[in-house]
Amino acid sequence: MKTIFSGIQPSGTITLGNYIGALRQFTELQDEYNCYFCIVDQHAITVPQDKQELRKNIKSLAALYIASGINPEKSTLFIQSEVPAHAQAGWILQCNTYIGELERMTQFKDKSDGKDAVSAGLLTYPPLMAADILLYGTDLVPVGEDQKQHLELTRDIAERFNNRYNDIFTIPEVRIPKVGARIMSLQDPVKKMSKSDQNQKAFITLLDEPKQIEKKIKSAVTDSEGIVKYDKENKPGISNLLSIYSILEGTPIQQLEERYEGKGYGDFKGDLANIVVNAIKPIQDRYYELIDSKDLDDILDKGADKANYTASKMLTKMERAVGLGRKRR
Ligand code: AQP
Repeated sequence: MKTIFSGIQPSGTITLGNYIGALRQFTELQDEYNCYFCIVDQHAITVPQDKQELRKNIKSLAALYIASGINPEKSTLFIQSEVPAHAQAGWILQCNTYIGELERMTQFKDKSDGKDAVSAGLLTYPPLMAADILLYGTDLVPVGEDQKQHLELTRDIAERFNNRYNDIFTIPEVRIPKVGARIMSLQDPVKKMSKSDQNQKAFITLLDEPKQIEKKIKSAVTDSEGIVKYDKENKPGISNLLSIYSILEGTPIQQLEERYEGKGYGDFKGDLANIVVNAIKPIQDRYYELIDSKDLDDILDKGADKANYTASKMLTKMERAVGLGRKRR
């Protein structure tokens, strides 16, 4: 059976973008693959986090994974910092990555843009991400489009390591959904929707109340034309809303354009709000059952045990390949 690895940062509550771009793919794939799904808390601290909020977000993300359909009987769900091999392997891979490669990463440029001081971790995040993936002999990484560049670098690092030392890493393929790979901000539709956006109106989280969702969709930036038509270049706002509608209802965009011909954005947005609320409602119901249950801790304990077992074996191979430590007797 082939292996999947993917992670989400507990840097806030996950958005409709994370759900459509990543989580929905995970649940579709878990029957066919040996899956590792990770709460990548060490990535979250590349930017400042409030420690209480971070702890809350870690548990909340674990519950949201399961509430969205990840079955812990089939998939391994765990927290990155509870598997020390990630940081250890990340260091080895950092030493096999060039600064120039890291400085070229769009996410680094975006997140450091205009800031006086950024952490070194923000720059060295990609080798840690490469370690996350390579430790499990991963064949496939399902992600949204924004992670494509990091995945290309992961492949380069893995090939470089295999050539330099020993051929131990599987070279992973990336899987990006055909539609919904990049859900855009509701307030600035040329920018991607992000859970850490300072403007709360720019994103919908999986835990937003129906009233909040309605308000956010109604105030989503569109254009003054008032025609429900997909045109990513000239009408990015309505095009983004059409994509969300189409994916969640399973209706082709062209049919939606026909349905709303001659109607304004008000009707369209009202219906979209209902669709989003109905898509999220079962996830929220399950989430509230799980969040304070002991089951969640048991699942994460079991996940950490399984991940530690697999990851430590690969870490030993890496250390041996590089020549770290002493030869084991
Ligand atoms: N807007 C998006 N549309 C589609 N997919 C998305 N993803 C993120 N944003 C969108 C995908 O969600 C997965 C988890 O992402 P992450 O939490 O590891 O980091 P990120 O890509 O940086 O996501 P955010 O929400 O923008 O987090 P912050 O604000 O903390 O930087 C990935 O598969 C990603 O592609």
